[in-house]
Amino acid sequence: MKREDYFKPVKLFLFGGLFITTLFADGDPQLSIAGGTQLFDAQKGKEIYASSCQGCHMADGKGANGAGFYPSLAGNVRLMSAQATLEVVTHGLRGMPSFREYLTNEQIAEVVNYVRTNFGNHFKDTVTAADVPK
Ligand code: HEC
Repeated sequence: MKREDYFKPVKLFLFGGLFITTLFADGDPQLSIAGGTQLFDAQKGKEIYASSCQGCHMADGKGANGAGFYPSLAGNVRLMSAQATLEVVTHGLRGMPSFREYLTNEQIAEVVNYVRTNFGNHFKDTVTAADVPK
């Protein structure tokens, strides 16, 4: 089976800043809805990860296939640099979407701290909203 058959995000919708829907080619939609006046209901890194990242990087952070199509965040030396991680999440990188329109600086910092301290990562230097690049 080709890796594309497993898990292929087709679309990342943003709807009025309140809905982020990630649809997958297998017809198994993931939907997360934030209500109220916030962009996102998920305040904590774990929740932000679950709603915004795990569709591609998986619940265990190991990526979709281990072949680098959706890179593993577990044991990834790229995450050694807090600033590089912030940069990728804020501005995107090729197939990695930019989150600056969808997450607040606080949320970006929160999720970056989360991925750098989970999945077997133990980087001690945490970031704050002030570290998020413009
Ligand atoms: C639509 C799928 C998708 C989503 C959603 C997504 N990513 Fe990614 N991510 C990717 C892809 C693809 C790459 C590889 C980019 C490249 O190097 O071409 C990547 C790369 C990364 C990298 C760099 C890793 C490396 O080895 O270069 C980090 C860190 C990262 N993502 C974190 C996150 C975080 C945190 C979130 C949630 C806020 C997230 N990603 C959401 C697809 C996604």
